[in-house]
Amino acid sequence: MQQVIHTHQLCRFFEVGDTKVHALDHVDLSVNQGDFVAVMGPSGSGKSTLMNILGCLDTADAGDYHLLDQRVSRMDDIHLSSLRNQYIGFVFQSFHLLPRLTALDNVLLPLRYSDGDITISTQRARKLLDRLGMSQRMDHRPNQLSGGQRQRVAIARALVAAPPLLLADEPTGNLDSKTSIEIMDLFTELNGEGQTVLMVTHEDDVAAYAKRVIHMRDGKIEREHLNAAA
Ligand SMILES: Nc1ncnc2c1ncn2[C@@H]1O[C@H](COP(=O)(O)OP(=O)(O)O)[C@@H](O)[C@H]1O
Ligand SMILES: [Mg+2]
Repeated sequence: MQQVIHTHQLCRFFEVGDTKVHALDHVDLSVNQGDFVAVMGPSGSGKSTLMNILGCLDTADAGDYHLLDQRVSRMDDIHLSSLRNQYIGFVFQSFHLLPRLTALDNVLLPLRYSDGDITISTQRARKLLDRLGMSQRMDHRPNQLSGGQRQRVAIARALVAAPPLLLADEPTGNLDSKTSIEIMDLFTELNGEGQTVLMVTHEDDVAAYAKRVIHMRDGKIEREHLNAAA
């Protein structure tokens, strides 16, 4: 089984006044291809810090991080951003769509700087939106879409470059419970096709969709459990 994520004794500190906050305190985490992992824990426990480092938006102060065949720890910004574009799809709580662009153009954004054929890219983006139930709304702008529809666009955008790792920080945090279930069903379906998924959530019923649940506290992985039903 191929390892997508492997961290060893990962640390991230923040100096706040004269105190040092251990946002990540010697975290060992491995995620295999095809895993579906939920990260839970109280506010301030280090979940977003972990996501940012795993997503190559931030770097650790100590320890090692391997993403597939790449040693991410201590890479420079240029390498980090190219790794991010190639390997990572992000889904955020607040969708992060560009308001002036249509759904289709939002999905195409990650491919804008790639040298791929625009016709093929557009076909792929349309196919993804279609599959996510958005075929009638490709030309809508975000403010013409419901929260669930916006998150579907964001998921299509995250997947358009076929990244090996999908990261989601509270993907259902702004959605009602019916829409949350639809989005989690979608994640389950994608994971069933082999997509590796790691998401942060503070809701037990959202975490219940994952195969593995990791509990963080004070920058450490406190415990982990497997969901038998997922
Ligand atoms: N940029 C930063 N500067 C200072 N402290 C930070 C910064 N980012 C996070 N922290 C601190 O690190 C800890 C973990 O934060 P975070 O990863 O955002 O937790 P969570 O996402 O679990 O709520 C908190 O104590 C937070 O205040
Ligand atoms: Mg957070």
